[in-house]
Amino acid sequence: MSVCYLNGEFLNLKDAKISPLDRGFLFGDSIYEVFAAYDKKAFRIEEHLDRFYINLKEIKLTVNISRQELKNIIELVIQKNDLSNQIIYLQISRGYEEIRNHVPDIKSESTVFICSFPLKNLPNHNSDKVKISLREDFRWGKSNIKSTSLLANVLYKIQGNQENLDEIILHDNGYITEGAVSNVFCVKNKKVLTPSLQNNILPGVTRSVIIDIVKKLNIPLAESRISVEDLKNADEVWITNTTKGILLVSEIDQIIFNTLDWITEKSSRTGLTDVENFRTTTYTVGNSGSAYYTVDGINADSTALVIYARVGDKIVFEPTANSVFSAHPFEISTTANDTNGSNNIGSPEGWDQSSHTLTVTDSTPTTLYPHCGVHTGMYTNGRIEIVTTYDQSLIDVESASGGLEVSGTVSVGPFKGASGNTHMVYLRAADAGSDYHEHQFHELPGLTFYMPADQGYHGATNSSGQTKFKTKSHY
Ligand SMILES: Cc1ncc(COP(=O)(O)O)c(C=O)c1O
Repeated sequence: MSVCYLNGEFLNLKDAKISPLDRGFLFGDSIYEVFAAYDKKAFRIEEHLDRFYINLKEIKLTVNISRQELKNIIELVIQKNDLSNQIIYLQISRGYEEIRNHVPDIKSESTVFICSFPLKNLPNHNSDKVKISLREDFRWGKSNIKSTSLLANVLYKIQGNQENLDEIILHDNGYITEGAVSNVFCVKNKKVLTPSLQNNILPGVTRSVIIDIVKKLNIPLAESRISVEDLKNADEVWITNTTKGILLVSEIDQIIFNTLDWITEKSSRTGLTDVENFRTTTYTVGNSGSAYYTVDGINADSTALVIYARVGDKIVFEPTANSVFSAHPFEISTTANDTNGSNNIGSPEGWDQSSHTLTVTDSTPTTLYPHCGVHTGMYTNGRIEIVTTYDQSLIDVESASGGLEVSGTVSVGPFKGASGNTHMVYLRAADAGSDYHEHQFHELPGLTFYMPADQGYHGATNSSGQTKFKTKSHY
């Protein structure tokens, strides 16, 4: 049994009745408010009532109940219902009139209705996928008013439901306004963005709670215009409202965010092992007598061969033959050409001498020098640099013109979300031909790759066997 309040009485919800001549039914001449009660306590009730009274003023509706009385009634509805977590609807219309007329009769009494529903569990951010689609905003120009005239929103939700979408995000003249039942946030370059209240949106209470939290955490935030393209290219998108809290969007019009989870789920897909292993890069090491090591065929002594890596990456040095490392022990030091190994790193810094593998952690020094433990001058000019992003200008683009393969997830552009092995990529726009387009990969932040437009190897499940891109530079 659910208890509600209607025009001065507490009733069983099923017994609550209003006239078909109520202006709320005839004209949608009414406003409403929705708030959550957690442990039987209304959350942010003052903010909700502030918005409610602003709305009353906007539509010139006067109520004969004071704010305090209204609050008491709301508290009573919450107490009279059993569940500790509830969602409360406060609906108010300009009331019932005997003769239908657009122009309201000033004598009519408003209809006040408050009811409670169970608050559903908030979605689980780790497992629930949230799919949204973008549509033109065809609502009226006063969407700041929480009006019960929700026909446009209902139509969007019907469409969304048919297409198995969780929310429809609206845009007007190329700029995001809000969702059919939510506000929108996105994250771009570590900055949180949300459309300002000037964009014909509802001033959501959850929106303002989140803005407060983001500001308290000193995370950069701007209430500004967000173009459709900006949203599609954002690093993260969230939607917020009272009933769902904050939802992390995983897919916009089939542009997939958070694709690594998606890849692991698609267990029926084959050939994705490379992607899961994308943070391991293997270099082959040979030697030219005791003169120099060759790393992927490059003279590591005379060439300033820099290998870039980030925390979480693994670099494996694989000898071309057993004799390479037995005759020339391959070690890593924090100082250059450290033949006697006085500054060698070991397992605390992530180096495993037996497998010649560096697992980069926060404890790994940021500049490292491979060297031979017996002969001097075998890797004099090279080093390993631990970076946070890759600087395109430092990567060898000259010898990368043959077309490469990159494993990972496309992070921007029309193929955002394509995960797998992307073939025929280039480091120079010129190498991709006239129809080139750009790609960035989540796994290689900061680096732009180029692809010719006329081939379809965006996130292929199988490797093509092309030379894998390695984050090394010969400069
Ligand atoms: C159109 C629209 N925008 C935004 C919101 C979010 O508002 P709040 O956070 O106050 O629930 C809602 C809530 O239903 C809504 O319908």
